[in-house]
Amino acid sequence: MVVQCRVLFIFLGLQVVMMVLYHQGYHHQVSRVLNILSSSILSPTPANLIMKDVYSGLEQIQALNLTEDDLPSCPKSSPFLSGPLKVSFPLHLTMDEIAQKNPWVQMGGHYQPPNCWALHHTAVIIPYRARRKHLYQLLYHLHPFLQRQQIHYTIYVVHQIDNNTFNRGKLLNVGFKEAMKENNWQCIYFHDVDLIPEDDRNVYGCSVLPMHSAVAIDKFQYKLPYQTYFGGVTALRPTHYLKINGFPNNYWGWGGEDDDIASRIFLNKMFITRPPAAFGRYRMLKHGHDKGNEVNPKRFHLLSSTHIRWRRNGINTLNYKLLSKEQTQLYTNFTVNLGSSDQ
Ligand SMILES: *[C@@H]1O[C@H](CO)[C@@H](O)[C@H](O)[C@H]1NC(C)=O
Ligand SMILES: *[C@@H]1O[C@H](CO)[C@@H](O)[C@H](O)[C@H]1NC(C)=O
Ligand SMILES: *[C@@H]1O[C@H](CO)[C@@H](O)[C@H](O)[C@H]1NC(C)=O
Repeated sequence: MVVQCRVLFIFLGLQVVMMVLYHQGYHHQVSRVLNILSSSILSPTPANLIMKDVYSGLEQIQALNLTEDDLPSCPKSSPFLSGPLKVSFPLHLTMDEIAQKNPWVQMGGHYQPPNCWALHHTAVIIPYRARRKHLYQLLYHLHPFLQRQQIHYTIYVVHQIDNNTFNRGKLLNVGFKEAMKENNWQCIYFHDVDLIPEDDRNVYGCSVLPMHSAVAIDKFQYKLPYQTYFGGVTALRPTHYLKINGFPNNYWGWGGEDDDIASRIFLNKMFITRPPAAFGRYRMLKHGHDKGNEVNPKRFHLLSSTHIRWRRNGINTLNYKLLSKEQTQLYTNFTVNLGSSDQ
């Protein structure tokens, strides 16, 4: 009681001081202070109050005692969606621990809602090399994230095992080709290993336009770094992917291939779409410099000729050696040798 009285007293006192200042002509300063006070005292950050754990509510997923033919379609908007999610990971995750938390995920990283027919059939492709810890953090988060959305999906990791420079575009092409052999996917998500989605209303299904999902990344202050940015997490329907002849195979090292993909889309007279910035939010996992993924000095030169090259450089000229295809509890592992960077 005493404390409350004191606070009230201070508040009243402040108001008197403000009034005096106001009458003496300090209008701007006074309104600034009042704004700061009202935003910090009067509105508790609502996001904190409703942010849920990515696994919360999923224990309600249950199989119906129905034959497959009798299952209803999943609703347009999943009842498990809760909006902004807390992003946190237990330390030292193991594959078994993550698998235990995701009892409905089948070998190879496959999931289908057990109680309804999914509206989206999505392959998630992750280009990969030497980021085991990030991969587990992403899997820990992405599996329940996608189950909240009642999507039928499989997670594919495309592991570049050779010692040549990293080639994201080519790995994504390999992922597309191999994933389409496994299933007639209607939507392909191309997903960097270090991006964690923060809002489950960012639904991983394709629309009629190529999708750029990573609109707001914390590393870029939750803003687009530039208007045509098409990096991080993107999605295409297979028909659109084939129309642009897939992705470039000749960007070795960091950078450029995402701008090339964007150019291919524009050159084919398509537009890109994005979720609202409040939905397309991502946390980027921190890492040091990756050996074998140096900034590609040729990227600007290559980009200047995308319009000439795109028909002769892409899925129609892709060559690689698939060394193995293994199903783990949480993903399908395509291991590839991409060859050397002479191409
Ligand atoms: C499922 O339904 C069948 C017949 O409709 C019934 O015989 C069976 O006991 C049910 N199983 C469960 C687990 O409820
Ligand atoms: C890559 O380099 C490592 C060590 O330098 C070597 O053990 C491995 O065999 C090489 N892999 C290939 C595919 O050449
Ligand atoms: C994929 O499989 C290869 C071959 O067994 C293995 O060397 C590699 O570590 C695996 N990668 C991942 C990410 O599981």
